[in-house]
Amino acid sequence: MTDAPPPPAATRTGMGAALRQDSALQHATGAARFTDDLPEPPGTLHAALALSPVAHGRLAPLDLAPARAVPGVVAVLGPAEVPGRNDISPSGKALEKLFAEGLVEHWGQPLALVVAATRDAALAGAAALRPEIAPLPPILSIEAALETGALLMPPQVIERGGWQAALEAAPLQLAGEFRCGGQEHFYLEGQITLAVPGEDGDITLHASTQHPTEVQHIASRVLGCDYNRVTVQCRRMGGGFGGKESNASWIAAAAALAARATGRPVKLRLSRKADMAATGKRHPFLFRWRAGCDAEGRLLALDATLAADGGHSLDLSAGVIFRAVTHALNAYDVPALRVTGLACKTNTVSNTAFRGFGGPQGALLMEDVLFSMARATGRPVDELRERNFAGGPNGAETPYGQKLEGELIRRVWAEARQGADWERRRAAAEAFNAAHPTLRRGLGGFALAFGISFGIMAMNQAGALVHVYTDGSIRLNHGGTEMGQGLFIKIAQVVAEVFGVEVERIRITATSTAEVPNTAPTAASTGSDLNGWAAHQAAGAIRARMAGIAATAWGVPEEEVIFADGHVSAGNHRMRFGELAQLCWAQRVSLSATGFYRTPDIHWDPVAMRGHPFFYFSYGAALAEVLVDTLTGEYRVLRADLVQDCGRSLNPAIDRGQIEGAFLQGQGWLTCEELWWDADGRLRTLGPSTYKIPGSREMPAEFNLRLLADAPARANTIFRSKAVGEPPLLLATCVWNALRDAVGGARLDLPATPERVLAALRAGGA
Ligand code: MTE
Ligand code: MOS
Repeated sequence: MTDAPPPPAATRTGMGAALRQDSALQHATGAARFTDDLPEPPGTLHAALALSPVAHGRLAPLDLAPARAVPGVVAVLGPAEVPGRNDISPSGKALEKLFAEGLVEHWGQPLALVVAATRDAALAGAAALRPEIAPLPPILSIEAALETGALLMPPQVIERGGWQAALEAAPLQLAGEFRCGGQEHFYLEGQITLAVPGEDGDITLHASTQHPTEVQHIASRVLGCDYNRVTVQCRRMGGGFGGKESNASWIAAAAALAARATGRPVKLRLSRKADMAATGKRHPFLFRWRAGCDAEGRLLALDATLAADGGHSLDLSAGVIFRAVTHALNAYDVPALRVTGLACKTNTVSNTAFRGFGGPQGALLMEDVLFSMARATGRPVDELRERNFAGGPNGAETPYGQKLEGELIRRVWAEARQGADWERRRAAAEAFNAAHPTLRRGLGGFALAFGISFGIMAMNQAGALVHVYTDGSIRLNHGGTEMGQGLFIKIAQVVAEVFGVEVERIRITATSTAEVPNTAPTAASTGSDLNGWAAHQAAGAIRARMAGIAATAWGVPEEEVIFADGHVSAGNHRMRFGELAQLCWAQRVSLSATGFYRTPDIHWDPVAMRGHPFFYFSYGAALAEVLVDTLTGEYRVLRADLVQDCGRSLNPAIDRGQIEGAFLQGQGWLTCEELWWDADGRLRTLGPSTYKIPGSREMPAEFNLRLLADAPARANTIFRSKAVGEPPLLLATCVWNALRDAVGGARLDLPATPERVLAALRAGGA
């Protein structure tokens, strides 16, 4: 890999330009085609899932006749109708069934698929089925799973020297327990695939997916065919947030199965209710910890267990736990510790990727430890925060062996505090609280170090395909998917920069397994890092060929050929980019290239739990102020101040949008979004009327956001930019801390709904 070219000054269309998301206008006008907007081929059928009405039980072979008898129903498909394997496991490390067989393991588990002439007929067919299930007692809590030892995989343990002795010898010993809830992705566009059979067993899947390659693999596995028979395409998603990483694959596989069985195009689009019942969510966690510190509040030892509710199957839980345990210290350092990550098996829907992928849960741990320490030592939380930042007297190495940039953590934190006028406002809040009988202000901070790269090393690769046409227009394709995050415009900017043309000359195209194969999911915030470099490689290869032709034509050295402003020039020579493309064609030079990138310098030993798994860290800090009504527990977020390190931003408009959205999504997870299962394991929050996602009213009344200026960006990332998709979600943790400040530091489980805030106020003696 060559070194990144120096970042040029911001131009209108190239790097660093604040361009809008490529489909912003089409989104606003409705012209953007989502999967459900694609014209349905003649004869398209519609499918609906039959879901388990019971959380756990023995399932008798399902009688499909009642559904087949419903008018309009064309086919009913259960496990016996699967020609390949009834296995949708994304990791391939467990058997995870598309349709339950013999045993149902969660309420809402797919039992069969009904295919009909209309969607209503398919739904009526699904409703006509009468599954016979002999109920078994369900495991519905992390505690219950821990008691029975129900785990989905062996524990993941990160350990650093002598924690036991250090814990016993510590002058102050503390312990704590708390929990956080899960989170529904609530993408505006639900799960959907349109499966279109071609000739001789070929099939094209128009899927709303973050992982077209996995859709291809799992559909092939279910159909029992070679990968080359299945083509997966996705122009855009109406949101994914991790929910369309593994879940999209089985939805697509079910649609593919229906298309194979009927020989007709089939659309499977889940209703919001079915989507919420059948697809996995963010993992809830239970935290139990013991810590030792000195009288100044310097942490000496920690022993923590992070137990996640993985739901009934493995899904992506291994990766979620990996991220939780590697982020359990966040920006802090503890010299001796053991962190144990567990994925509990329960009878709920199988939890999966969600923005931050276990990192947001992991990073809660130290906040709880800091609050307990503050109570025990009588020192302010922020003082303890600063005392325990990594890179201080304790050293800067994470317990798994990778270095953190301690000075950058401190800088980001200091800039956030300064920008927020923190000291003055804390004094003002104290004065307010002393004077006010019922309202209380709370202030909370948070600092973040988030590792960028996939935990599975092989996933850190990407490909791109670039064509230059003879009019100088450019067609761009790469392995990344667009879910609203602005990836496509960022990669187009990279290519525009390489060719020195306006971004309008670049045609962005749908992600397709036929154009770029064997891709990683667009996840772990790596989309622009990976695909940016791959596209840079492809465009660079074509540019080098073009430069050679221009150099020969002009009799100048190749290095003197410059691509800028839509022209190619050297000294007094100059021609339009398109003219040079035409010249290359005339001289029979290829104007098409693939690009490939693999992240360098990363390695991980999953047995020793040591290595250098992240290419770099993304840093951020945030501060929030809340106003709490102590009579009702209701609250408002009055103000938030954020500083996020985006390196040298590829596109500050996109990055700002990502940070704002991520923060509010994080705030939703921590405050108002509550998934509620009843005693029988039925999810009772199945839509916006019962599941509250944050809206404009929840947005902090004053929201100040700064991208860190002059960010050092040491890793050789594309144009020295840094990933932004997930890290700022964690910044919302400052809202939890502000609420906790307002309730006097008492335990405050998440989501911190008004009820919990009220209970904590009572418990805190306030
Ligand atoms: N932004 C929007 N608008 N919609 C989304 O679905 N997903 C998030 C984040 N930002 C998401 C989003 C998640 S979970 C990830 S991992 C990243 O985008 C993925 O894209 P990137 O790697 O290109 O940042
Ligand atoms: Mo994001 S949870 O990695 O799709």
